[in-house]
Amino acid sequence: MPDQNVKGWNDGGAAQTGGIIIQAMDVVKTYDTGYSKVPALKGVSLSVERGEMVAIMGPSGCGKTTLLNCLSGLDDIDSGQVIVDGTDINRLSDNAKTEYRARNMGFVFQVYDLLPILSAVENVELPMLVSGTAAKATREAAMRALEFVHLANRASHRPAELSGGERQRVAVARSLVNQPAIVWADEPTGALDSTNADDIMNLLRELNESSSQTFVVVTHDSKMAAYAQRIVYMVDGLIVDEKRTAHAKQPSSPTPEQT
Ligand SMILES: Nc1ncnc2c1ncn2[C@@H]1O[C@H](COP(=O)(O)OP(=O)(O)OP(=O)(O)O)[C@@H](O)[C@H]1O
Ligand SMILES: [Mg+2]
Repeated sequence: MPDQNVKGWNDGGAAQTGGIIIQAMDVVKTYDTGYSKVPALKGVSLSVERGEMVAIMGPSGCGKTTLLNCLSGLDDIDSGQVIVDGTDINRLSDNAKTEYRARNMGFVFQVYDLLPILSAVENVELPMLVSGTAAKATREAAMRALEFVHLANRASHRPAELSGGERQRVAVARSLVNQPAIVWADEPTGALDSTNADDIMNLLRELNESSSQTFVVVTHDSKMAAYAQRIVYMVDGLIVDEKRTAHAKQPSSPTPEQT
């Protein structure tokens, strides 16, 4: 559990409540390798409410990573529309997209993509350097984020001097240091044992509950997905089903069509 004095550390950053923050409409994405075409997303529509924690599940190759990349603007789409917090991200230039992501989004990947030559705290600082924050404020925010994931005592360790679970907690700290409105996580527990996996999912849920940050978490593990408020199921490039879990904040919240 986070300490009381750090629990509200990210108050104010993403603090806006209610409404749809991610709206994807009929998103189509086909990979063309030159010798074959793979229809990875065949018309996906998805709405995510601000402050929601959504898990995306489905078999290997069904398009989960592609969906995350297309919703976050990491990858281009062929057709459809993705509106993030009122911004049509595909209308932004590449530079504007990168800037938008740096300011508004955090990322956690399956393999903790930390830079090996940097210490834990320096890795956590990276997103803030991109957004041009002063060095002192950056270090303070990075240390607060490391405290939140219980790793303040490992701040000077390089990734090779950390356990797998600790590395992933550094990656979580890095994803939230900028107080982004949205955190995207692609199999964040994929490389961890079940104790470390539960720790990470508990952390994500605590963050989600203590702030109004929105989390979209890809996992193929139904135990991990159960930490979310809603589980969206994909098969073969399409969303085929969804269900609310025991953690749903508003079991009877309106469907996107009703808002
Ligand atoms: N860069 C690429 N070029 C061509 N095809 C790709 C590319 N990336 C993914 N694909 C194909 O698109 C489909 C969807 O891939 P994606 O990575 O989104 O699946 P996934 O659901 O994340 O799978 P996993 O659970 O294994 O990570 C797959 O059939 C994959 O082979
Ligand atoms: Mg994937």
